[in-house]
Amino acid sequence: MAALLVVRGLAAAVVAAFCFMSPPPVEGLVRHYKFNVVMKKVTRLCSSKSIVTVNNKFPGPTIYAREDDTVLIKVVNHVPYNVSIHWHGIRQLRTGWADGPAYITQCPIQPRQSYVYNFTITGQRGTLFWHAHILWLRATLYGAVVILPKLGVPYPFPTPHKEMVLILGEWWKSDVEAVINEATKSGLAPNVSDAHTINGHPGPVQGCLTRGFSMPVQHGKTYLLRIINAALNEELFFKVAGHKLTVVEVDAAYTKPFNTDTIVIAPGQTTNALLTADHGSGKYAISASTFMDTPIVAVDNVTAIATLHYTGTPSTTPTSFTGLPPQNATPVATKFTNSLRSLNSKQYPAKVPLEVDHSLLFTIGLGINPCKTCSSGNQVVADINNVTFVMPTISLLQAHYFNINGVFTDDFPANPPIRYNYTGKQPSNLHTMSGTRLYRLAYNSTVQLVLQDTAMIAPENHPIHLHGFNFFAVGSGLGNFNHKKDPKKFNLVDPVERNTIAVPSGGWVALRFRADNPGVWFMHCHLEVHTTWGLKMAFLVDNGEGPEESLLPPPNDLPKC
Ligand code: C2O
Repeated sequence: MAALLVVRGLAAAVVAAFCFMSPPPVEGLVRHYKFNVVMKKVTRLCSSKSIVTVNNKFPGPTIYAREDDTVLIKVVNHVPYNVSIHWHGIRQLRTGWADGPAYITQCPIQPRQSYVYNFTITGQRGTLFWHAHILWLRATLYGAVVILPKLGVPYPFPTPHKEMVLILGEWWKSDVEAVINEATKSGLAPNVSDAHTINGHPGPVQGCLTRGFSMPVQHGKTYLLRIINAALNEELFFKVAGHKLTVVEVDAAYTKPFNTDTIVIAPGQTTNALLTADHGSGKYAISASTFMDTPIVAVDNVTAIATLHYTGTPSTTPTSFTGLPPQNATPVATKFTNSLRSLNSKQYPAKVPLEVDHSLLFTIGLGINPCKTCSSGNQVVADINNVTFVMPTISLLQAHYFNINGVFTDDFPANPPIRYNYTGKQPSNLHTMSGTRLYRLAYNSTVQLVLQDTAMIAPENHPIHLHGFNFFAVGSGLGNFNHKKDPKKFNLVDPVERNTIAVPSGGWVALRFRADNPGVWFMHCHLEVHTTWGLKMAFLVDNGEGPEESLLPPPNDLPKC
């Protein structure tokens, strides 16, 4: 933890990260990391439990690399759970075997087994993160990925004095696997977490006045905050009392800089923002609080508080707080999302597909199915185009690569099988179908994907994450997508580029991407509870021509099921 508590300069960060390795960092290096997955006893909210960690650290270690580097991470499983790790947002060009979602691109790493994730970082720079991609282990198994620009290439914004990773999470006092297992048995929703965390700490809460995370700053200096939402089930508002933030990058893609006092960040999203320490002295609250605008849910978990601490300020000085947006402050969220634009400079052009080969409309939402084995008699489910995705028992990528029949079908519906007023009154007996169905794309084909929220049970904001690609968010709106009128308003010039998009509650977003990465790519809601309920599917992208456009063969140590 000590290493995470220290504000690091860019140079210092590189030295700190690589001081155990030789040779010193140069461009296009091979970086080796070792992740020992081990149990560790941790105390939060004045209560202790054993959690799954990497190298006894919580949050886990930061992976540092430069654009063009190859990263090899040996993951050794010393815990009694099956484990897999996903490098969230890394494109994994032709290296789907290293993507990490269990039963999608690999079988999990079983206890006492290991696996080396091997990938090259191409065309990306900024902040991403890694997390477990099996069960609910990512509650504590997560850490930052910092991709520095190539050596000698500056940031497209003023060089910060120092940089700081701020990784937001959630803390349950009880065992998280028990929480979701209980819920699955009953068929109902699981408990929400007890508190949010910033770099693993909730901060002082009533009845447990432990110190939170503290970030030292010097008057007059500018800092780059690398903010990551690693929470399981909640979108968050992020604020620093008394300070403005300038957003410069999201999901490892540069944006046009813009100023804001509140950042909205969904699970799976990352945001880089500049903060200038323009006060003389003092202590200022850094807060992470819930954004939840579905009409039927209010959550009561504790807001995480960290401190921005000006050097020289006595620790007895009271902290300045700021008002938090109400939990259901949709306008604050909308204003923030509407401000995001790709940088779209000469050096970093926004390559938005202008022609569309596949035009897809996917409804996303919840549902209720009868359930004989559930104690409540029913089961909350979730679906895309009315398909509740069923996980296979061997990985889809292996089934695809080795032509194993009977694992999946490639008939995922391109449009909702039943058309109705998606955001209006819902048909009363619309149950979902189950299936392991994929949507097949030719190499290099272009896709327009409209994600349409439904009001089934209730409308809700869903952060949808696509593996293997970045997409451009070319349009969004409330209500039902209108295929005649809405495309006329699409931004095909400088739409924001990202890997996770929050589909507005009772609304839609339109995405475009090019299928230039052969393999099997998971797409799901990054609210873990919705993934569990089935809000997931996968794209199968065929090989193109020749080895440069084909999936690499699987590594020898690929785990077996
Ligand atoms: Cu960050 Cu499939 O997940």
